[in-house]
This record gives sequence, C-alpha cells and structure tokens, in this order.
Amino acid sequence: MAQDTSRNVGPLILVGPPGSGKGTQAKRIAERYGIPQISTGDILRDNVARGTELGMQAKSVMARGDLVPDNLVCDMVATRLRQADCERGFVLDGFPRTAAQAGWLDAFFEHEFFDNSHGKCLPIVILMDVDYNLLKARITGRRSCPTCGRIYNVHSQPPRIDEVCDLDGSKLVTRNDDREEVIGERLAAYEEQTRPVVDYYKRKGRLVSVNADLPVEEVGARIIRAIENRNAAETVRPSSGA
Ligand code: AP5
Repeated sequence: MAQDTSRNVGPLILVGPPGSGKGTQAKRIAERYGIPQISTGDILRDNVARGTELGMQAKSVMARGDLVPDNLVCDMVATRLRQADCERGFVLDGFPRTAAQAGWLDAFFEHEFFDNSHGKCLPIVILMDVDYNLLKARITGRRSCPTCGRIYNVHSQPPRIDEVCDLDGSKLVTRNDDREEVIGERLAAYEEQTRPVVDYYKRKGRLVSVNADLPVEEVGARIIRAIENRNAAETVRPSSGA
C-alpha cells in the first residue's frame, strides 16, 4: 500500500463488533499514514501479561468478555494520546466503546488536544459494518503473533507455515477471550454498550459506514477513500462535520 506520511490526518476512530476487522484495518491505516495504532485491547492485554496494577484489575473482566471500567480505560487512553507520536494523528481501535467514553473523548479533544500544535481536526469515525454470521468464524479462526502483533486467520488469512508468523517466525497464539463461550458475552457487551456510541457519532454527523464483509484489501480501500474524501471536504469547509 502506498505511504503518505507527511500531512496531518487527525483522529481516526474504528468502531465495530468483535471480529469485524478493526485491528486488521487499524494496522494498515497506521502504516499508510505513519501514525500510531492505539488499540485499547492490546494495551490492556499487555498490562495483563506484565501483571501491572491495571492488568490485575482488567484480567478477569476481559476473560469473561465484559468491558473494563470507563475510568481505567480513559486514564490509559489519555496517557497514550499525550505522547508525541500522536501529533499528526492516530487510529483508535476499540475506543470509545461506551457512551461515557465517547463523551469523555470529545471533552479531551476540546480541552487538551485541539490546541495550537494539533489544530482543530474533528475525528473521522468508521463503522465496520459486518454480517454477524461471519463473526464467529473470524474470531475462532484468529491467530496473532505475540512478537509483531500481525493478525492471521486460519480460514481467510492463513500464515505460510501453520501456526508460525510469516514475518518473524514466532509461534502464533490464540487470545484468551476468543473461546466460544466468551464470544456471546463480547457480542452482548457490544450491543448493549457500544451501539449507543455508533448512535452518538451518527447524530453528530461524523459516522462513515464501511462494508466490512468484503475481503481485507477491499475494506481497506474503502476506508482510505472515506478518509481522503473527508480530509478533502474539511480542507474546503474547515468548520464542517461537527
Ligand atoms: P479488543 O481487543 O478491542 O477486542 P474486540 O473489540 O472484541 O475486537 P477484536 O480484537 O476481537 O476484533 P477486531 O475487530 O479487531 O478484528 P480483527 O482485525 O482482529 O478488546 C478485548 C477486550 O478488552 C474487551 O472485551 C474488553 O474487556 C477490553 N477492552 C478493550 N477496549 C476497551 C474499552 N475501550 N473499554 C472497556 N474495555 C475495553 O479480525 C478478526 C479476524 O478476522 C482475524 O483473524 C482477521 O484475520 C480476520 N479478518 C479481518 N478482516 C477480515 C476480512 N475483511 N475478511 C476476512 N477475514 C477478516
């Protein structure tokens, strides 16, 4: 994919149910624009693996497929967004996922992020619109590399050698919450707590829905198109889209 690492892209937010392809596409967008992927799931899993205070609080909640309390996640995101590599923009993958988190993020942007150095650049929110019948196979077939984070799927995106990362040779792992008995809980949490986030951004006119049933390359192309169209529109009408 062609890279474009010179200009500001601002905040990009990927919303969608578990297995809809947020992580897969966030990595591609991050690479294309040279901006960081901020996955709250990855940061939490890293804290669990390192046994930090946050990790200990999040571990059992994640294992049963519930959401980690808003205050813990918002503090974690604030710390990450204050880092210098977020200056030109970033991709939020898995955040916000409650109405409270969405409200918190808008306030954070307004009071802390939209200052002189970042400029006022409203987020583009991409909804990964996917057929629920596809999700179970995507989630149970997922494998990821513990070293580089690359995501595979035994059905749709297998590694060249079974269970081995193409890029660095690490043995691929299955996530603890990708067990069949937890998937239902995660989907229920999405329906109850994250659907309101979709409605929140729809009301604000910031939501762009992308057909995430399509192959990875095609979904990626549509997301890039949405970002480019939005950026072009904002260049012409800087105050639009609020
Ligand atoms: P998190 O890690 O965010 O998981 P999730 O939202 O459940 O999403 P997934 O990572 O399962 O799926 P994805 O959409 O990224 O899909 P992927 O690209 O991997 O959260 C985990 C937990 O952390 C939560 O349950 C919660 O406890 C906690 N948490 C995290 N954020 C939180 C927050 N903000 N507040 C509170 N708690 C929070 O793709 C899936 C599979 O499909 C892969 O195998 C991939 O290869 C394949 N695939 C992807 N796209 C395609 C395609 N187009 N065609 C075919 N296959 C595809």
